[in-house]
This record gives sequence, structure tokens and C-alpha cells, in this order.
Amino acid sequence: MQPDDIRSEFKNIISQCKTFDDLEGARVHLLGKKSALLNLFRSIQWLQIDEKKKLGRELNLLKNEIEFLLESTRSKLDSEARDKALSEKIDVSLPGVKYELGSIHPISQTAFEILDILDTLGFESVHGPEIEHDFYNFESLNISQNHPAREMQDTFYIAPNIVLRTQTSPVQIRAMLALKNPPFRIACFGKVYRRDQDITHSPMFHQIEVLHVNKNISFSDLKGTVTLIMKRLFSNKVQIRLRSSFFPFTEPSAEVDISCIFCNQSGCRLCGETGWIEILGCGLVHPKVLKRININPETYTGFAIGIGVERIAMLRFQIPDIRLFFENDLRFLSQF
Ligand code: PHE
Repeated sequence: MQPDDIRSEFKNIISQCKTFDDLEGARVHLLGKKSALLNLFRSIQWLQIDEKKKLGRELNLLKNEIEFLLESTRSKLDSEARDKALSEKIDVSLPGVKYELGSIHPISQTAFEILDILDTLGFESVHGPEIEHDFYNFESLNISQNHPAREMQDTFYIAPNIVLRTQTSPVQIRAMLALKNPPFRIACFGKVYRRDQDITHSPMFHQIEVLHVNKNISFSDLKGTVTLIMKRLFSNKVQIRLRSSFFPFTEPSAEVDISCIFCNQSGCRLCGETGWIEILGCGLVHPKVLKRININPETYTGFAIGIGVERIAMLRFQIPDIRLFFENDLRFLSQF
């Protein structure tokens, strides 16, 4: 092929390009390693000096013309593509993709409501780890080495001294150590774990821990606080009853019952015909617990409350089986 042959051919080839791929094919054909033009460039070396100059000039000119035409054709294709995209019509009347709105889980709803009540009473919300050291979960809470709660049958052990916390009470200790000086007024909502499973027990459930330590905190502060929480949560008419109980980290300790909200104390299946429903555990912080973390129990006293969130939610929403909370069945969850 001679330069004239290439010249008569390249415009035709490029003018037939309809796409960027066509154009790339034309570029490779006309300027690539196997192109006639490059062959001619290679042949220059065998020519006389005058001929070299002449052909060199001609070939460079030709190469420039080809490159120019490739480039201008490329920008023509570019603007055609842009015009096409801009002229595309979007049907704005077409229905969009609908996002289903979820709702807040009944356990979270219940917990947030209790935390809100506590917030108005000045309790600050704090958190602690779910994987807990034996020291915080048991020892610092005055739960002795041979206490049945520490048995493998009741507690999930991760390692000999590491457990899935069985209660939110370890956060009492963590919060007091972190805040250092009383007064302490904290609330902790979180998951706890026990090896237990039936229609009212789940191996994972939720508690809210309430702790108030200050000078002159007495049992009547505890009773007043519990009464207020229950009245705000259930109704102003609800009655409170305290029964003496035992927890290693409180002394005295009490179980709190509320008057049955279903039968107005006339006796029903839900209150076991007693008119009362057991609702939470509480007590005055044991002096040993305070002393152990260097808080003088002669100067400071306090109360602690442990609220089972599932229990409250089951009562408020009249849910018969705790497992419904964690099956994530939308037919159940969408009712809240
Ligand atoms: N931590 C106790 C439990 O899980 C409940 C509790 C908390 C009792 C605070 C008294 C004071 O059973």
C-alpha cells in the first residue's frame, strides 16, 4: 500500500463508524502495530536521505490527518450520546419502590418508656458489657463462691471467670467505680442471659437496673420511687405491695407486687386468683457491696431496683408467651 491508497481509504473507514467500538477498531486498523501506515514508516530506513525526508513528511502529515478525523468523530459520537441521554423521557407517574416502615420492638418500646420515667426522676442512662467478669457479675455483688446462681446449670460460662452476665446488677459496680463519688443516680437497660427456657423464661432477656446512692437514702425513697414508676407505667390507680425477699447484694430486700390490672383484684387467671402480680425485685444496697469499692456505708446508703422488661411488656400488651418477642414474626411485631 502507498500513502495515496491509505489516504483514499481512511476517510471512508472512519465515516462508517457508528459506535465507540467501531471507532476503536478503525484506530487499530489505521494506526496500530499491524497498520499499513506503520509498515510504511518502517520502510523509511531503507531509503536515500532525500527520499527519507519526503516520505517522512508525507507520512506524518497523513498520520495527523487520521488522528484528527478519529478525534473529531469521537467528539461527534460523544455529543450524539449526550443528546440521546438528555432527550430520554422519564415517566414520573410510574409508582416508585415502596419502603415498608417498621415499628419499634415492644421490648424497646417498654424499656424506653421506663427509661423516660427514670429520666424525669434524674436517673442517667448508662451501659455495661454483656460478656462480664465473674468479679462484677457475682463477687462484687456479695454472691458467694458456692451460690447456686453461679452453677454451670444456671449461667453461661465463656471461660472459667468470664460469663454472659446473668443480671444488669454488675453495672451498679461498674458505674460506681467509674463515677467515683456519690451521689450516683443511674439506670441501665440491657440484655442478660440465663440457662432457662419456658413460656415465661427465655435464655436471653432484658432488665433495667436502677441505682441511687447518696447521703440519707432510706427504704421510703425506694418505695416512693417504685410506686411512682409503677403508677406512671400502668395507671394511677395501681396499688403496690412489698414482700420481704433475699438478694445477696441488698439488705433488706423486697419483691414488689402490683394490684392485678386485669381483674381489679377480684381474682383472675393472670394473677393466679390472688389479686396481685409480682413485678420486680429491689432493696437497699448491702453495706458490704459499698465497702468493697471503698464507699463508706456509714456516710452513704442507697437503693437498687431490678426490672424485668419482658415481664412488664407481657403484662402491658397481654402477651402470653415470652418466645413471641424473639421469633421476629411480622404478624406479631406489626401489632405494635
Ligand atoms: N439482679 C436481680 C435479679 O436479676 C434483681 C435485683 C436488682 C434485685 C436490684 C435487687 C436489686 O434477680
